[in-house]
Amino acid sequence: MPRSVYLETFGCQMNELDSELVSGQLRALGYAFTPDPHAADVVLYNTCSVREHAEQKVWSRLGELKAAKEQRPGLVVGVLGCMAERDGESLMRRMPVVDVMCGPGELDKLPMLLDNAVRTRAGLLADPDISAPQVSARQAALQGNTSRRSATLAAAQDTLEMLDLSRATFASDADAGTPRKTAYVRITRGCNKFCTYCVVPFTRGAEVHRPPQHIIDECKLLADQGVIEITLLGQTVNHYRFEHGAAVTVGGVVQPQKGRAYQGGHNRDPFAGANVTTFADLLRRIHDEVPAIARLRFVTSYPRDFGDDVLEVIRDHPRICRYLHVPAQSGSNRLLSLMNRGYEVGEYLEFLDRARGYLHQPELGRPLMVSGDFIVGFPTETDADFEASMDLLRRARYKNSFIFKYSPRPGTVAIDKFEDDVPEDVKRSRNNIMLAAQNQISDEIGREQVGREFEVFVEGLSPRARKRRAREAVALTIGGRAQAQGGPGPDESSQDVQLSARTDGDLIVLFDAPPGVTASSLVGRLMRVRISGAGPLWLTGVPVTG
Ligand code: 5AD
Ligand code: SF4
Repeated sequence: MPRSVYLETFGCQMNELDSELVSGQLRALGYAFTPDPHAADVVLYNTCSVREHAEQKVWSRLGELKAAKEQRPGLVVGVLGCMAERDGESLMRRMPVVDVMCGPGELDKLPMLLDNAVRTRAGLLADPDISAPQVSARQAALQGNTSRRSATLAAAQDTLEMLDLSRATFASDADAGTPRKTAYVRITRGCNKFCTYCVVPFTRGAEVHRPPQHIIDECKLLADQGVIEITLLGQTVNHYRFEHGAAVTVGGVVQPQKGRAYQGGHNRDPFAGANVTTFADLLRRIHDEVPAIARLRFVTSYPRDFGDDVLEVIRDHPRICRYLHVPAQSGSNRLLSLMNRGYEVGEYLEFLDRARGYLHQPELGRPLMVSGDFIVGFPTETDADFEASMDLLRRARYKNSFIFKYSPRPGTVAIDKFEDDVPEDVKRSRNNIMLAAQNQISDEIGREQVGREFEVFVEGLSPRARKRRAREAVALTIGGRAQAQGGPGPDESSQDVQLSARTDGDLIVLFDAPPGVTASSLVGRLMRVRISGAGPLWLTGVPVTG
């Protein structure tokens, strides 16, 4: 019997990618995956530490597992990702239910840790002299702060690079029975920006840039598996820069090195050339060398690092998406400085104007869409500071924004330096005011699209159609009669076949599959739709035929 694993992922796209790679490794070793935590021998949570809210969810999940473990003492519980790295051994002390902890920089060691934990628990439980509650099979792999020490950086990255490279060996979703058309590819790991509120530089370690050839090979491999949309990932993705001469080799793997401080702004990279692959070079190479990729996207960008070279490459390469996610975090220069963001509002706006100058071409069906992040209630934020953020939100005209209430994170600079002095109700009200303003802008941007035609990537059923299918499936299992009596079943003949798709500017478009066409045959394909209606969250459209 294969051991069955339940894996739940919290947080960002980087975590989703880590979970996918971990699943691939475990599947190759004979583990099977189950969507039901109660049926699993191993329960894993891949966690996020960026905001307190995400951690609270994991604490409550772990609390729920206490009873399950009493009933099934052989159950192995693992906490992966940033929360494991940040909380370290104290998490295990507080939550004895946890057997395995594995930081994001150590995930290649997970199979070994799990195997040890499963065997140790089974062995101890078989010992008649030990009672189940005493059984402890703890295993941990954490970087501590070693990833920021240059002497150990190369070694740490060597094993990490192996995790990404493992895709070549195992992690094909096709093996899991679900061929997919869209995939993430990591290009940088870690972060060196040290924004004062942020745990990422501590949990994911120093910034390193993967060798371009590894990235291109991975894109080719995915394209061979049928993937047509790739999203490049990095905490500051547009800071990518690989110096070929400076690479070292450890254990047969070419080591990425830290990027040289990049000047950003209008500047093209002054050292660009044969020995350096810039972000602009990387985009161009993937576009040209992997033509089967119909859509190339990237997140998340750092406002200061967009040279004109990158904007030109996006403009001149039709399969690179016109979508930028560029967090501003605040519209107040005073707060941007306390946050250590390294730019002022004027520079951010200058970048937006420049990006739109290069890339906003609605007349060609290619408007540039930008989304942003804001933190409200950062320590000392006054009404005037908040108004400045509102001003920036209105001037930037984001297609959507992710708005967060500041939460002090242990280990960050801000928690030590600044008192969390904005009351919760003020944070909440600023959050709501900002969301309402953004909704209005999103609505306006949506309405500007009505009548335009777009190529869209069909992602799956719309939320409405998915809910309806789920209801129908329940009705079928309860009654077992719906289909027998000719009622609607969760099959292709069901009337509700509304699909959800995205434009290359990341706008969501819902539309009905054309009559006579099965919805599932369109998923993962590109097609043209004309926009017929708009709201703040999504557009509606009709397929353009012929
Ligand atoms: N509190 C609130 N929001 C935060 N973010 C990062 N750290 C914090 C924090 N301590 C937000 C930022 C970032 C996004 C991923 O999460 O807006 O861009
Ligand atoms: Fe965190 Fe700032 Fe790095 Fe983004 S750029 S991951 S907010 S430290």
